[in-house]
Amino acid sequence: MVADLGDAELAEAGEVARAALILDAGEAPALVRRLAAPPASRRWTALLTDGGVAMASLSEKDPEAGHIDLLAVHPGARGAGRGRALVRAAEDWLRAQGARRARFAGNPPCYAWPGIDVRYTAAACLAERLGYEQVRVAWNMTADLSADLSADDDLRRLAGQGVRVHAAGADRERVTAFTREHWNESWAWEVANAAGVHYAERDGRVLGFAAWGARPAWFGPMGTAPEARGLGVGGVLLRRCLADQRAAGQRTAQIGWVGPLRFYSRAVGARAERVFWLYGRELA
Ligand SMILES: CC(C)(COP(=O)(O)OP(=O)(O)OC[C@H]1O[C@@H](n2cnc3c(N)ncnc32)[C@H](O)[C@@H]1OP(=O)(O)O)[C@@H](O)C(=O)NCCC(=O)NCCS
Repeated sequence: MVADLGDAELAEAGEVARAALILDAGEAPALVRRLAAPPASRRWTALLTDGGVAMASLSEKDPEAGHIDLLAVHPGARGAGRGRALVRAAEDWLRAQGARRARFAGNPPCYAWPGIDVRYTAAACLAERLGYEQVRVAWNMTADLSADLSADDDLRRLAGQGVRVHAAGADRERVTAFTREHWNESWAWEVANAAGVHYAERDGRVLGFAAWGARPAWFGPMGTAPEARGLGVGGVLLRRCLADQRAAGQRTAQIGWVGPLRFYSRAVGARAERVFWLYGRELA
């Protein structure tokens, strides 16, 4: 098993992930690259065997909680113990780093999934077989991007209330500062690393933001300051991001790890779809 992967080995890991992760095939190499470029406050590793890869990490803010971020065995190499060996090797690495627990659960801000998609049933069986317990359920919503995403009427109405909406460019730091002030460092990192960000402001103050592509191809995070809720800012920012995703060639968008079900359902007709089981076990 090889650790500390170089660029060529990470590319190989990306191809294994593409072949194994049939629900995420198109973006699997991008997921591997994203997990290999986490925030500086994170320690991580990638482990490669012939036909299998695992990635694991832990964060400074919770160094006892280790995360297995990705696990993939090529369909042609399955059923021969590679999955089990990769999980055990990832656990050994986490233990050596001081972790006391291991989780199959997203490690925000840099994660592939909130947990194990229930349709990756073999992975859930593997986790349970190795002593992991289900600790939570999470879900994504799917937005159909053929929906009407126009926001012109709302933009005019908001302008009448002194609210203006922009695509963040060189001024993106305004939005990261806003997310840091109202939420946390994790969202600030996602905003800084997103493919696109839109925000609303009034009298020079940021009121709300929405981002997409921080986790490749997914929408989120988004947030509106408490004093600006109910104005319709969130719906406009959501539609502007989804329109960007459509322009980037996506036909649907995953709204990751929700969240306000009713808001997304009413704003763009999004439906709950991917369901994830979050697993954890103590590391003896
Ligand atoms: C999950 C996966 C990594 C297993 O890899 P593998 O090398 O075939 O696994 P192993 O040979 O080490 O099997 C170990 C355990 O996994 C479980 N497992 C493996 N294949 C399974 C299958 N087809 N159905 C149910 N459980 C299965 C079993 O519990 C097995 O142990 P057991 O037979 O003693 O009960 C592989 O199926 C895969 O890459 N799936 C797609 C990617 C994925 O789901 N990744 C997880 C996202 S986090």
